[in-house]
Amino acid sequence: MKINGSASNNDREPLLDIAALRADTPGCESVIHFNNAGCGLLVDSVLEVMRDHLSLEAAIGGYEASAAQADRVADFYAAIADLLGADPRNIAFSGSATHAYTKALSAIEFRTGDVILTTRNDFISNQIAFLALRKRFGVEVVHAPDHADGSGVDVEAMAALMRKRRPRLVAATHVPTNSGLVQPVAQLGRHCRELDLLYLVDACQSVGQYEIDVAEIGCDLLTATCRKFLRGPRGSGFLYVSDRVLREGYEPLFIDMYGARWVAPGEYRPVDTAARFEEWEFPYATVLGCAAAVRYALRVGLEPISRRTPALADRLRERLARIPGVRTLDRGLDLAALVTFEIAGWEPHLFKEAMDARGVNSALSFREFAQFDFGDKDVDWCLRLSPHYYNTEEEVDAVADTVAELARRGSA
Ligand SMILES: Cc1ncc(COP(=O)(O)O)c(C=O)c1O
Repeated sequence: MKINGSASNNDREPLLDIAALRADTPGCESVIHFNNAGCGLLVDSVLEVMRDHLSLEAAIGGYEASAAQADRVADFYAAIADLLGADPRNIAFSGSATHAYTKALSAIEFRTGDVILTTRNDFISNQIAFLALRKRFGVEVVHAPDHADGSGVDVEAMAALMRKRRPRLVAATHVPTNSGLVQPVAQLGRHCRELDLLYLVDACQSVGQYEIDVAEIGCDLLTATCRKFLRGPRGSGFLYVSDRVLREGYEPLFIDMYGARWVAPGEYRPVDTAARFEEWEFPYATVLGCAAAVRYALRVGLEPISRRTPALADRLRERLARIPGVRTLDRGLDLAALVTFEIAGWEPHLFKEAMDARGVNSALSFREFAQFDFGDKDVDWCLRLSPHYYNTEEEVDAVADTVAELARRGSA
């Protein structure tokens, strides 16, 4: 299988072999999958790894199967570390990005009056978690203002708030769920490092779509799922924990027999690595599937992916913007592959069902997913289309034609 290769437009621009990539992806035959921001289509070999492991569990026993596959399990940590420019000891597996995020939050000993400084585009569940911390511990949640140019949070304004408020935690979402915005997380990170502030980044929609380097971002903690642009299985995610955080002794509120040693009747000791954020039980088939998916993404190459994927989205956005009755909603200088738009004359579920019926996978977003952003844009709902590198230009045009047809027709 040649996936990243020899063919090139010029020296700078290696082409992905889209036909080969699609041949690896059985779902391409049955659907136009523009819901990669929900869950990417699985690669055949990833599915095979997972099936094989379940078969092995059935054949020799679950514990015995994970022991037999110990090297491949270890490769989950090595693969994520390669993806992020980290060390395997800094990586913890989790069942979802949200699980990783709340575990990370639980490690911070918030006190009444502590400030959480975040952005207006942080993910809905993160915002709810901050409010829950406010309810229980009396922390103050401060939202830095957005930049007037639409590029997400205003870095200088947020840095000023860092200096003034000395937050207990700075939290930023790289790419939110509800638009193609890419927030300047590395610029924020430089300020956090300079001021020595704890910095948590939600990279759920950016891993697998962009090259991510935790040192360049300057984060202490970073969370993501494997199921979206990494094209791993559902029910998977991970947490990156910096050495500094490990050294300073941060540990999740509830730590189990895997994350800690019970060294005396009245004493436990957290393990040295990010494994202190994990639990004893693992869905091993899923872990192995994630390792295979990440290795596949690394072979395809994050650099060509990061050029092709947003470019397909730009093409789609341009075509949608020309359709009467359609308003594209994404704001920002460089946009990610989450294309959002509203359409006149349709109810949300009916519109999505009409797209489904035409063989196009998509997702709905509602005001409650993004109170600030949708409030600013004055929209109650939108449709999100999220192509990935294995989609084709022809599919982009077909999807735009489908939207144009539905816009003309209306829901009647
Ligand atoms: C930006 C962002 N963060 C976090 C999440 C939550 O991920 P999970 O569903 O794996 O908890 C999502 C899911 O859509 C997301 O888009």
